[in-house]
Amino acid sequence: MVPRYLVDFDLDQLVQVDTDVVVIGAGIAGLFTAIKASQTQNVILITKKSVMDSNTRYAQGGIAAVISDEDSPEFHLQDTLMAGAGLCSTDAVEVLVHEGPHGVNDLIKLGTQFDVENGEFALTKEGAHSQRRILHANGDATGFEIVRALSEQAVQNPRIDVWDDHFVIDVVSEDGECVGVLVQKPAGQRIFVRASATVLCSGGAGQLYRYTTNPEVATADGIAIAYRAGALVRDVEFVQFHPTALCYPGAPRFLISEALRGEGAVLRNIAGERFMDRYDPLMELAPRDIVARAIVSEMEATKSTFVYIDITHEPAEVIQHRFPTIYETCMKYGLDLTTDWIPVAPACHYMMGGVKTDLNGQTSVKRLYACGEVSSTGVHGANRLASNSLSEAIVFGRRIIESINQLPPLTHRPVIAVKQERVETLTQPIVEKRLKLQKIMLRYAGLVRSAEGLQKGHEELKRQHTIYDAVLTKKEEFEFANLLTCALLTTEAALIREESRGGHFREDFPERNDAEWRKHTLFQREQGILEENVTDDRLELVSTKTAD
Ligand code: SIN
Repeated sequence: MVPRYLVDFDLDQLVQVDTDVVVIGAGIAGLFTAIKASQTQNVILITKKSVMDSNTRYAQGGIAAVISDEDSPEFHLQDTLMAGAGLCSTDAVEVLVHEGPHGVNDLIKLGTQFDVENGEFALTKEGAHSQRRILHANGDATGFEIVRALSEQAVQNPRIDVWDDHFVIDVVSEDGECVGVLVQKPAGQRIFVRASATVLCSGGAGQLYRYTTNPEVATADGIAIAYRAGALVRDVEFVQFHPTALCYPGAPRFLISEALRGEGAVLRNIAGERFMDRYDPLMELAPRDIVARAIVSEMEATKSTFVYIDITHEPAEVIQHRFPTIYETCMKYGLDLTTDWIPVAPACHYMMGGVKTDLNGQTSVKRLYACGEVSSTGVHGANRLASNSLSEAIVFGRRIIESINQLPPLTHRPVIAVKQERVETLTQPIVEKRLKLQKIMLRYAGLVRSAEGLQKGHEELKRQHTIYDAVLTKKEEFEFANLLTCALLTTEAALIREESRGGHFREDFPERNDAEWRKHTLFQREQGILEENVTDDRLELVSTKTAD
């Protein structure tokens, strides 16, 4: 079994820092939550790198919210539920679509400048949206602009203490209640931050896969930390692959935004043929899982490692104005978006599942909250609608702080000492372990899965389990342990779910099976695997075997 804590410690021997709220992660969820909390509380915001290193920073397409008079919350709700393929919580989606515009206003008040055209917000469209409802900034640099504005606010705020380069090893709990976090400082010293509320905003898990649009920091830390603390982790078999990441020798899997297709870009196989008509009537704007699998199928049929995205029909100045980041990045590799077809392939992009929360971001562990990609609020179901994630972070971030404001302060000093026999020595370099895990996940738990492959992948991952019996000291070791936990849960959940739905496709069960599978998979460290019915929210224990 994955241990409760990754390292031994004795709170009596550690330096203790007290605060009201500790926020882990500095993407949109972390920054926004910290700023909101600071109106009434003292906050420590911990980031393992810096406030400019998060998934949010790379978000291009934008933020979905009902702004236009032609749009309505009902349309946004329908599109989200449709993309979520029967697994969304309608209540959570209602919250998102009704409170999203308010959240966008909050971002504007905090200094975010969204693009404006003819005096109105410029709204774009992405796959599976029936309306233009996506706000963007500096063309295709929406995430960067949001992080710029929010981080400026956070670092100047006297009630927010920003700790860069600090690593949260675990949340600490006593009698089922979270009492703070165990943190490793840049020079290796460990301290205990005691807090009345802990908010996980640590982002996603893109580094589970060899090819990802996510930065290096997306190592599933929050999911693994919450799982070790006994929180319910839900739907981690649902991983979204973005259809179009740059696929060029020497280049990173840089995101080529869906907004390109929203503005009319088409996909072509290496023979130059447009192919989406053979896969879905919505063509290039079909849901992401359909487009991604169509691309893989064309790559296989043409024995190629990529297809092309083509926006060359648009005037050069329009492309350069609307997609400056993509244009400049492609140019670095000698690819001119205005005249060239750009080689692209799918890459892991977003974890739909995560730490289960209620409508106030509260996890199943008292005083522990989760916000943003790390959470499973019920908004995304089996497949996230493009650009819903930034809105989700601000809407639920605000609710989390309203809930935290009602909490009685933590008054007592917890007494916890952990001593476990840790006898393993790490022989293989951690970087090799990580690469191996990423290859296993891509091969067996990628876009197309099967029982045979998942079983094999899961068994191979289990061989790495010895990491939990070793003395871990470095950030990279903690990250690997976290990735391994999430990989084990993802492969196990994918194995259990004998159907295809949203981001989870099983070639041995290619159909969606609502009669048996309109339910969530959940893991709890001690109870094992649970299921949750979508309609009545009841938990039902189906197995007591442990998840790993
Ligand atoms: C994109 O710009 O294509 C990504 C937007 C998203 O993932 O929500």
